[in-house]
Amino acid sequence: MKQFPADFWWGAATSGPQSEGRFAKKHANMFDYWYEVEPEAFYNQVGPDTASNFYNSFREDITLMKEIGLNSVRTSIQWTRLIDDLETNTVNQAAVDFYNQVIDCFIENGIRPIMNLHHFDLPVELYHKYGGWESRHVVDLYVGFAEQAFKHFGDRVKEWTTHNEPMVVVDGQYLYQFHYPKLVDGKKAVQVAYHLNLASAKAIAKYRELGLDKEGGRIGTVLNLTPTYSASEAPDDQEAARFAELWNNKMFLEPAIYGHFPAELENVLIRDKVIWEIAPEDAEVFKNNLVDFLGVNFYHPNRVKAPDIAPNSVGEWLPTRYYDHYDMPGRRMNIDKGWEIYPEAMYDIAINIRDNYKNIPWFVSENGMGVSREERFQDEVGQIQDDYRIDFIREHLEYLHKGIEEGSNCFGYHLWTPIDCWSWTNAYRNRYGFISNNIHTQMKTIKKSGEWFRAVAEQNGLT
Ligand code: BG6
Repeated sequence: MKQFPADFWWGAATSGPQSEGRFAKKHANMFDYWYEVEPEAFYNQVGPDTASNFYNSFREDITLMKEIGLNSVRTSIQWTRLIDDLETNTVNQAAVDFYNQVIDCFIENGIRPIMNLHHFDLPVELYHKYGGWESRHVVDLYVGFAEQAFKHFGDRVKEWTTHNEPMVVVDGQYLYQFHYPKLVDGKKAVQVAYHLNLASAKAIAKYRELGLDKEGGRIGTVLNLTPTYSASEAPDDQEAARFAELWNNKMFLEPAIYGHFPAELENVLIRDKVIWEIAPEDAEVFKNNLVDFLGVNFYHPNRVKAPDIAPNSVGEWLPTRYYDHYDMPGRRMNIDKGWEIYPEAMYDIAINIRDNYKNIPWFVSENGMGVSREERFQDEVGQIQDDYRIDFIREHLEYLHKGIEEGSNCFGYHLWTPIDCWSWTNAYRNRYGFISNNIHTQMKTIKKSGEWFRAVAEQNGLT
């Protein structure tokens, strides 16, 4: 038996915009709007309107989550739902009532609610008016929203996270065109990365100013800590990996854990004339507002090699002038999603945090396997026999366990996701849940992996 530490979090993660549906929501976020103007950008033209209907069915959904043994669940509070006036940060009473009921329902069912504040779901008005995260003003508006969330729910929610995968906002909106408004603008990307970091530090400052840390609360952030592996030992590949690690991981990790940006990255950005604009007081804000814990989302490794082009041979500044993606021959693949499967990375992450990031308390805030057309794996009574998912989780847990045994301070594992949910442009293409969701009937059924996970949680370990 591979035993995990006492009080280990066995859980799963979702987000407000991906589970609730748009019901009774006053504002549109970036995705709500994008779907309104370009529905064909979404798989099968399925948008966020219903999602998994959590707004209406949260009691039944939480009962199912309890049934599969989850002791903790992360979701997010939607800025576009909680706040009525986005400039003055007045709250919407129906939203307060809704989130109160959700939080109470989790607690009544013995599930610890972890609340995130931003999961790619900026109110679109703030993008159209101010350029969204390009603007310092939006950082302050976000902190106002966070303050309202802390004040209304901080008595019962004891773990908060400021962002989910902020790097995806940088990548998707400003570099690689997979999220609205699909810009390609390296300079803006750099500024947005800075502001997202600043927003996190300022929200942490607000949390502590309200004294919630003194009442047993903790605040952290969720990063997609995708480890970088170099294609070879050759110096130029190693150099490429070094920059990829700085850009994709350290740009968020180091401010969160050390309170400043990596000097090496700043030097490159200065040399390339794309360095962010700052205010003199920011350095103190970063220094004084470190995270209490870290959430790590891990799906696949990032393999890189030296780029084919020389860095100075291209016009527009893009980080990929320093590295290219590398498809390792013979890699194991999840073909449906197109991601490499590499559970060993779980151990590497654990040791990296132990050795380079103060051995800070952390948890796996997302891990999972997206599979399409899962109905093909239904048995005669209609249960999805997702043995591939069980194998996937088991292998990742085994490597995680090895890291914990060697001293890494990991306190939990959350699968993406409890109930199949809507996922941005992929909508319902890739299913990740312990519980399936028929999007036509909203009928929810526990998969084989859900039953398996319950046993793991009960035993607090793997047999
Ligand atoms: C994670 C995100 O990166 O990937 C989730 O935090 C997302 O919000 C998940 O749903 C899966 O993405 P996809 O596109 O495969 O469904």
